Amino acid sequence: MTQLIDAPRGPLVIDGAINAAAPRLSLVIPTYNEAANLPVLIAQLEALLSPVLPDRYEMIVVDDDSPDRTWEVALELARERPHLRVMRRQGERGLSTAVIRGWQAAQGEILGVMDADLQHPADINLKLLDQIDSGAQIAIASRHVVGGGVSDWRWSRRVLSRGAQVLGLLVLPEVLGRLSDPMSGYFMMRRSALAGVTLDPLGYKILIEVVARAQPRWIGEVGYVFREREEGQSKVTATLYMQYLAHLLKLRWAKLRNLRFLQFCVVGGSGVLVDMALLYLLSDPSTLGLGLTRSKLIASETAILSNFLLNDLWTFRDLAALKPGPRARLRRFLSFNAICTAGVLWNLLLLNLMFNVLEMNRYVANLIAIGLVTGWNYWLNRKLSWSPLTVGNEPPRG
Ligand code: GDD
Ligand code: MN
Repeated sequence: MTQLIDAPRGPLVIDGAINAAAPRLSLVIPTYNEAANLPVLIAQLEALLSPVLPDRYEMIVVDDDSPDRTWEVALELARERPHLRVMRRQGERGLSTAVIRGWQAAQGEILGVMDADLQHPADINLKLLDQIDSGAQIAIASRHVVGGGVSDWRWSRRVLSRGAQVLGLLVLPEVLGRLSDPMSGYFMMRRSALAGVTLDPLGYKILIEVVARAQPRWIGEVGYVFREREEGQSKVTATLYMQYLAHLLKLRWAKLRNLRFLQFCVVGGSGVLVDMALLYLLSDPSTLGLGLTRSKLIASETAILSNFLLNDLWTFRDLAALKPGPRARLRRFLSFNAICTAGVLWNLLLLNLMFNVLEMNRYVANLIAIGLVTGWNYWLNRKLSWSPLTVGNEPPRG
């Protein structure tokens, strides 16, 4: 079996599905001109992981068509190593997307990443695994906790690195404030904590992207010393610092928008208009004057139908795309309908309570009831109707 794997295309989303024979750990190693370092690293990782995870780990080298033909060196190494696979990307370039493409091709329960240039000590992987085994959703190697540090950095690089951290704290305090080393490129994460999250990074800072979009609840950190590079050059350029700033602003905007719930509310709002218009056309004494409950049921069902289509085509389109086809859509519709129908019953109960018991105006009561039920509908539909997962994985977050 050739070890060269195709580079995935399309949205940067990790699938939640894993099969029973899946490896425990998939370690992605992004490379660009690391032909000299890679053989050393692979040997170190094998010596470290084979005793601990016999036949239960894989390494995936993601090379962006390095001029020094690192991918060829990797293929040579993979010839005798079934747990080593190689992705040679042509056309797509960049550290963060390389890592995500590697994770998309990975089969493991735990998705890891580390640099190929031996600046990340390989043995820290075991400590990160311990953190995950004890419950963390993401375990990060940090230079800024006990046992952490940098070996021999010029003061200018220290100032730049800390400066970048401070800038990040200003723009994204709720993300960078959770991390002692937000710039770390060495960490591992449970697949279930990342499944279904659409990633869209810029430049180098894959960790910030993952924490900002996936919002893992439990973060574990392990101190490590970032070593000097012996072979090859760092690929960090001034452009990367600009990309970093652009990345921070992009995440800030995305979080401000927090589109999904806002979109769900906008769709819900359009449903209210459908609901109200039909409630008026059917039940108002000046129109057909049908009974309140019957009119409300018809109005709600029609609103549910249009809400579903709008949510499936807009709010949750990336998740719907994970399960294409009319059968899957019908399943989502039935689940959505069941949840929203339960919501209508909640709504009816609340509406009658406020109208008949608290003697509130029927339209005000209806609005309040719809508002309360929207949160219920969003939460359950996000978990059940548009869940990215297949059977057997952990529940998605948020
Ligand atoms: N596939 C791919 N594509 N790999 C890349 C690319 C790319 O465009 N650019 C760099 N890499 C690989 C390198 O070959 C190396 O294995 C790893 O990504 C890190 O690149 P370096 O250029 O060595 O980064 P650094 O040492 O300056 O910075 C590291 O430490 C920083 C501080 O912790 C990286 O881990 C940074 O992400 C981290 O912020
Ligand atoms: Mn490096």
